Amino acid sequence: VNSTVCVVGSINMDLTIAADTMPMKGETVMGGEFATYPGGKGANQAVAAARLGSAVNMIGAVGNDSFGSTLIDHLQLEGINAEGIVTLSDVSTGLANIIVSEGDNRIIVASGANRLVTPAHVKKHKKLIENSDIVLLQLEIPMETVISTLTIANEYGIPVIVNPAPYQQLPDLVLTGSTFLTPNEIEVQTMKNTPRFASIQEKVIVTQGERGVQFYDRGVSRYLPSHQVAVKDTTGAGDTFNGALASQLGGKVQLARAIQYANAAAALSVTKVGAQGGMPTGQEVEQFILEGTVS
Ligand code: RIB
Repeated sequence: VNSTVCVVGSINMDLTIAADTMPMKGETVMGGEFATYPGGKGANQAVAAARLGSAVNMIGAVGNDSFGSTLIDHLQLEGINAEGIVTLSDVSTGLANIIVSEGDNRIIVASGANRLVTPAHVKKHKKLIENSDIVLLQLEIPMETVISTLTIANEYGIPVIVNPAPYQQLPDLVLTGSTFLTPNEIEVQTMKNTPRFASIQEKVIVTQGERGVQFYDRGVSRYLPSHQVAVKDTTGAGDTFNGALASQLGGKVQLARAIQYANAAAALSVTKVGAQGGMPTGQEVEQFILEGTVS
């Protein structure tokens, strides 16, 4: 699909240990393999959209350390326009400690440079937003930056998907200024407690992992089941969904079809390790939808 996506968001290095069991509070368990993978919800969503053939502009920040330069090189190798990514001194690149066990994960993030993605930085690169078909945001950068990005996008009439992860209380401007909100099933429970929820419900697309996707299509509540696949690592499945959704909606694909496509892309993403490891190409998604096979 032909679309340009602008992602304003986080860039992390994921430090991942595979383990047979998740450690409990106060417990030490022996793990298995350790690996570093490129991650961060923003960067993951950018890579997902780029693999599917979208042109992608990324706005974000890394620290002046080896992870930072590795991650920028990696994004460029994925074909992402990194001119909106700044390298900041005296701060570390964002890091995520991830434990993967039985296909599931637990993640703790040290924001580092992501905390310094400011409204001023976004404004400086507002051309990248203006020149895109759709904007994609998550909550690993400051809320004030999310709001100022939304304001710029609204000004130019560009649709915005807000993936409210990791969940924080959403200011009214985020609820009203976004075109779609994509919480998971835990995040949506908290959202439902906000007084405005009823008035924005129809823009909410709920990703429920193996329990499929719930959404509204022209006022009608719809449900799409997930695909049965051999799960290796669910890290980044939600990001794949969001990147794929933006890639499709940016290309003016109709909502239900875009969700079907994103749902298939997310299923494929969990069949390989690492947040970005299993993110499919457009050809792989189409083959999977038509034949149900994973290449
Ligand atoms: O959504 C998965 C991502 O969350 C990981 O890549 C990690 O970096 C955290 O941001």
